[in-house]
Amino acid sequence: MESSEPCGQNPKKLTSIMSKKTDYDVLIIGSGAAGLSLALRLPANASIAVVSKRELVEGNTLYAQGGISAVLDEADSLESHIQDTIRAGAGLCDEEVVKLVVENGPQNIRWLLNQGVEFTQQPPTGSSGYHLTREGGHSHRRVVHAADATGKMVELSLEGQARQRANITLLEHHIAVDLICTPRGNGMQARRCYGAYLLNLKNDQVTSIGARCVVLATGGSNKVYLYTSNPDVATGDGIAMGWRAGCRVANMEFIQFHPTCLYHTEAKSFLITEAVRGEGGVLVLPNGKRFMDAYDKRGELAPRDIVARAIDNEMKQHGLDSVFLDISHRDENFIRSHFPTIYNKCLQLGIDITREPIPVVPAAHYACGGIWTDKTARTDIQGLYAVGETAYTGLHGANRMASNSLLECLVFSEIAATDITRQLQKKEAPRPPLLHWDESRVTDSDEAVVVAHNWDELRRFMWDYVGIVRRNKRLARARRRINLLQHEICEYYSNFRVTNDLLELRNLADVAELIILSAMRRRESRGLHFNRDYPWQDENQRQPTILIPDNYVSSKR
Ligand code: FAD
Ligand code: SIN
Repeated sequence: MESSEPCGQNPKKLTSIMSKKTDYDVLIIGSGAAGLSLALRLPANASIAVVSKRELVEGNTLYAQGGISAVLDEADSLESHIQDTIRAGAGLCDEEVVKLVVENGPQNIRWLLNQGVEFTQQPPTGSSGYHLTREGGHSHRRVVHAADATGKMVELSLEGQARQRANITLLEHHIAVDLICTPRGNGMQARRCYGAYLLNLKNDQVTSIGARCVVLATGGSNKVYLYTSNPDVATGDGIAMGWRAGCRVANMEFIQFHPTCLYHTEAKSFLITEAVRGEGGVLVLPNGKRFMDAYDKRGELAPRDIVARAIDNEMKQHGLDSVFLDISHRDENFIRSHFPTIYNKCLQLGIDITREPIPVVPAAHYACGGIWTDKTARTDIQGLYAVGETAYTGLHGANRMASNSLLECLVFSEIAATDITRQLQKKEAPRPPLLHWDESRVTDSDEAVVVAHNWDELRRFMWDYVGIVRRNKRLARARRRINLLQHEICEYYSNFRVTNDLLELRNLADVAELIILSAMRRRESRGLHFNRDYPWQDENQRQPTILIPDNYVSSKR
């Protein structure tokens, strides 16, 4: 048996024969909106393990601010949401998937209400009974939210439900190392996933967990960039594990840079929601002059790629550390009640947003690409699913529209739950015995500083060479750097006992390589990918960038 061939080598960590440590019907790696809502939608008689690298709630979902888009107001329409999403996606959305997600939006909001989620109602806008806010690219107010802490409300509600379910085991402080899959065989047989290795971060032991179905719900990957809105756990582990196991990945070049992250020496990764612009906030230079109208007639509410590039351009042109977002013209009580998190955070840092503008810069925010999945959330490997930010479904195309991500998490977790439930009802094919993690030939590292240094280097060159505006020469430079780094990481991984930092670094390096390769392959500028050497959009390249790993075996054979 083989695992997913870490670094394309290193079989010495694996031996066969050992008996299973633990076995579940479904192993869900990740406990954000995608992972938890999937767990809650599976049958109560299915045994489920949900794995989380840190505390259960830590992840991108917890920090989501703006809200969730769905057609809830009679004056709005599904068709309008569909068309807005397709327009933002710059020609690369899978239109069937867009329709599927948008049409399932309202029922998923109702499902969240049933889980105890409370959305802001005052003052209601339109007929929905909720306050619907507006964000870039949306032609209607259709973003339902819980003030400016929607993700926290969603995540804590789902956590509360999951902790009450006897059939759900929550494995916090466990990091998945790699997937356990059947071998490639003669290349004709589809591979099958039947478990994963987990490193328990409390006792440093690696165990093998078996399952009939395994789900990657590991969220974002934007810690690959120096400046990001994402929390520390967003290291693209699911994408890296899926790729190493033989899954195709798609559209990795489309990294969304959020235009407005707080710029302050004491603020790490703090977002200023687009809803601030939706409620009238304007972007200004230090002299108070607005600039967005010169870039797009939609001004501050143009799609994110346009606003982020405009800010980047103004900062470079005027040599600025940041631009400013000003909402101080709105009523003080409105600001405090709609944006309490932002108001308090800024106030702690000495910025009173009811009176003065907020210094903001763009930062890496969302990965539109990921593990390729079909319309049932299945990946290329039998028994392996991917949901949420780690998956590529085709919804976002070349640019995700604001607040469509949580919606995608919800809709695809429901779809995956339906498919997995069907699989569980079938008679199970015999599973190979689980492999056991073998540490007999590795030692503890005496050079942890190398890992920290490589982390910094990787994130810096990704920011400098593969950022908002790209060039061929810089991409080639990034590729050389990543190849060197990967070589070092691989050597390190082969010789030393795994740690959380080493695993994350290895995953970040794999993800960085996928972003660079995808960016090099796209010889045009489209949506979030802008290359100065090809500043035009080319109709002949109107297709997703799909990367195929060496160990890929088509599941259709
Ligand atoms: P996450 O919520 O990131 O969860 C990932 C989980 O996987 C975590 O539990 C993590 O511990 C676990 N994990 C990762 N790797 C491993 C591993 N190797 N082993 C074990 N566990 C692992 N979208 C919207 O639609 N509306 C918004 O308003 C919005 N605002 C945002 C604001 C911010 C600041 C950010 C960062 C994102 C925002 N987004 C928003 C995007 C959206 O929040 C995310 O895309 C979405 O929450 C992703 O959910 P998820 O379940 O896929 O992943
Ligand atoms: C925001 O609140 O600006 C983030 C919304 C999103 O990323 O969808």
